[in-house]
Amino acid sequence: MMEVRLLLALFLFFLSLSSAQRPNIVFIVADDLGWNDLGFRNPDMITPNIDKLATEGIIFDNAYVQPLCSPSRTAFMSGMYPFHAGMQHMALKLDQKVCVPLNFTFLPQELKKLGYATHIIGKWHLGYCKWECTPTYRGFDTFFGYYNAGEDYFSHSIRDYLDFRDNKTPARNYSGEYSANTFGLRAVDIIHRHNVSQPLFMYLPYQSVHGPIEVPKKYEDMYPNVINEGRRKYSGMVSALDEAVGNVTKALKDRGLFENTLILFTADNGGPIEAYANNWPLRGGKYTIWEGGTKGASFMYGAGLQKTGTTYDGMIHAVDWKPTLVSAAGGTPETTIDGISQWESIRNGLPSSRTEFIYNIDYFEAAFEGHAGIRVGDYKLILGYPGAFDGWHKPMNSTEDEIFEEPVHYTGDEPVQLFNVREDPTEHNNLADKTPDIVAKLRARFEEYKKTMVPANYPEGDPASDPSNFGGVWSPGWC
Ligand SMILES: *[C@@H]1O[C@H](CO)[C@@H](O)[C@H](O)[C@H]1NC(C)=O
Ligand SMILES: *[C@@H]1O[C@H](CO)[C@@H](O)[C@H](O)[C@H]1NC(C)=O
Ligand SMILES: *[C@@H]1O[C@H](CO)[C@@H](O)[C@H](O)[C@H]1NC(C)=O
Ligand SMILES: *[C@@H]1O[C@H](CO)[C@@H](O)[C@H](O)[C@H]1NC(C)=O
Ligand SMILES: *[C@@H]1O[C@H](CO)[C@@H](O)[C@H](O)[C@H]1NC(C)=O
Repeated sequence: MMEVRLLLALFLFFLSLSSAQRPNIVFIVADDLGWNDLGFRNPDMITPNIDKLATEGIIFDNAYVQPLCSPSRTAFMSGMYPFHAGMQHMALKLDQKVCVPLNFTFLPQELKKLGYATHIIGKWHLGYCKWECTPTYRGFDTFFGYYNAGEDYFSHSIRDYLDFRDNKTPARNYSGEYSANTFGLRAVDIIHRHNVSQPLFMYLPYQSVHGPIEVPKKYEDMYPNVINEGRRKYSGMVSALDEAVGNVTKALKDRGLFENTLILFTADNGGPIEAYANNWPLRGGKYTIWEGGTKGASFMYGAGLQKTGTTYDGMIHAVDWKPTLVSAAGGTPETTIDGISQWESIRNGLPSSRTEFIYNIDYFEAAFEGHAGIRVGDYKLILGYPGAFDGWHKPMNSTEDEIFEEPVHYTGDEPVQLFNVREDPTEHNNLADKTPDIVAKLRARFEEYKKTMVPANYPEGDPASDPSNFGGVWSPGWC
């Protein structure tokens, strides 16, 4: 009996020891931030807090995301390609009866198994038509934020109805507060109240810097040398986000948690160039499977990283973040997901364990975004419509906005385009006609993946979602 108790005590002791050593994890997502929209890449941008973390951490040069929001977030949370979840088409609309399949395990669920306290502050956008789809039913201890996209930064409403909650309760009393501040302050508050006997996981998918283009004047005024009004405001939005990131790192320091914290920062997709974001010198933007739509501005900072102050050029895909963070937390990643842990590769600066990935496979009413693309080694194959907008664009800097012609969508797998994105990361030289053997090889690999595609779940809107049925708040309870 004595021995059993001793063993139990020892077991509990080691358990507490190991969990005490797990790093805190802060996973920051910037919405619609472009490749060229942070100071460490573009000296015209004022982002000192982010730049410090990035340049003292590891900057990713080849970390890929999906061309838009709900698909990328599906990958972040589940470690699955959106085309395996029916989530590959467009961003979810307010009135669609859709959420990421409930039998998919989310990152916070995995981290809870390892003893983490789990919080989400910001944007969900993975479905909310019933409570089971919402954050506190999918692994988060707390939720403060909104379910949809594109709402007003001050009223937290969209189409005149509130979309803002504190856990399950509508949060009506934040009206007038800019969301970068609201979310920044809530993150600081959670850090201050956190019981340090548990490791902390914070997922911070900020509203910034998605449209509408809104920012308090003091941030806009930081850019007197930007002539274009939209770009000036957008730049201010990025600087407000930077201030929020600075506040979070300061709070972690004040609590003595910073040394043992790992920070992952990423955009959810390339910047929408028609809406003042910028991906120069990459081609295309949000909605496209050009590199400008799919390379995320991204870096890691902190606990466990060895080769810091470097740029990591290994191939990473959004599906990899879940298993990578589970590994960083000392857990064992699932083997049944699309993502692979890149933790040992990243932290030690070793070659990536990924050699290929899918940009997208979407044949639903093809195609309102990039519908078919694959990367194998240095090569990238695009079949058919890559999405709009195309081209190489510098940041807007004249009083008149740059004009973007209405895109012409087309269906089918033509034309076929092939690029060596290692040698030609800006996609200037289509090699398809010159190297048909490589096209054939990539196409065969693409067809293998395509056999596993789950058709996009993208139904007509349901009038039952109408917030006037729910006290004027976008709410679960209609599916
Ligand atoms: C979820 O359920 C679907 C439909 O039953 C099934 O095809 C899929 O394999 C399941 N996925 C997981 C991750 O369990
Ligand atoms: C909003 O109301 C909640 C619940 O009463 C309270 O905890 C919170 O501090 C309030 N926030 C503001 C900004 O008034
Ligand atoms: C950062 O913290 C300062 C001081 O508490 C606060 O005034 C400011 O609103 C915060 N900014 C953001 C973006 O959270
Ligand atoms: C923190 O959690 C531990 C373990 O559950 C508990 O014993 C302790 O009382 C908590 N501390 C505070 C300040 O709540
Ligand atoms: C924008 O153009 C103005 C006028 O040509 C120039 O002075 C300014 O430096 C430019 N700003 C940026 C950010 O390029």
